[in-house]
Amino acid sequence: MKFQSLIVSALAAVAVAAPYPAANEAIDAEALPAIMARQSATSDELKNGACKDVTFIFARGSTESGNMGSIVGPQVCTALKTLLGSAKVACQGVGSPYDATLADNFLPKNTSPTAIGAANTLFNLAHTKCPNTKVVAGGYSQGTAVIDNSIQALSAAVVAQIKGVVLFGFTRNLQDRGQIPGYPTSQTKVICAVGDLVCDGTLIITAAHLTYGINASSAAAFLASKV
Ligand SMILES: *[C@@H]1O[C@H](CO)[C@@H](O)[C@H](O)[C@H]1NC(C)=O
Repeated sequence: MKFQSLIVSALAAVAVAAPYPAANEAIDAEALPAIMARQSATSDELKNGACKDVTFIFARGSTESGNMGSIVGPQVCTALKTLLGSAKVACQGVGSPYDATLADNFLPKNTSPTAIGAANTLFNLAHTKCPNTKVVAGGYSQGTAVIDNSIQALSAAVVAQIKGVVLFGFTRNLQDRGQIPGYPTSQTKVICAVGDLVCDGTLIITAAHLTYGINASSAAAFLASKV
């Protein structure tokens, strides 16, 4: 794809020396799908299961497999269940029709209307199916744009049910000034690693962008503190 070769050729000079990429060194976009597909998970516990006290809705990053991906979504789900009890938490990934293509990052909202609609459907389902559940949400990479734009599009009653949001590698961090416009900053945790250039208004993927698994438990603790 055009943007892949752009990123790769622009940063080819950087990628020569080190066997391990530095935190702020670009990763070849063609290598991403293989990295992102590792140990991916799918959770459909809101759609297919009984209502739980807490519902975690997560949008994965570009090219990640399953509806939870592999980099950080499954880890936050597991950590939430450890903190709150697995019988009390339903984890739900934003799946089809959100297809998490790399190209959609370059759209004006850093994801597609279809992706935003897929998240809207799940937040609305939580509201109608489980009016008493406390919703927490998370996104990684393109998934941060999915959650950010979705929350801005939801009705006030649906947003009121969303108690906390974590955004890992927030691709709209610069544009939206480190927050979800209109949503309380006290209920929002933006987690941006040093050297993750997507948090600085670029779409360059670096090694730092792939490190968020180590921040899953603190993010889950933040979400648990909001319910
Ligand atoms: C992520 O976790 C690492 C290791 O605990 C920590 O050093 C870093 O500050 C965390 N990043 C953020 C943005 O909280």
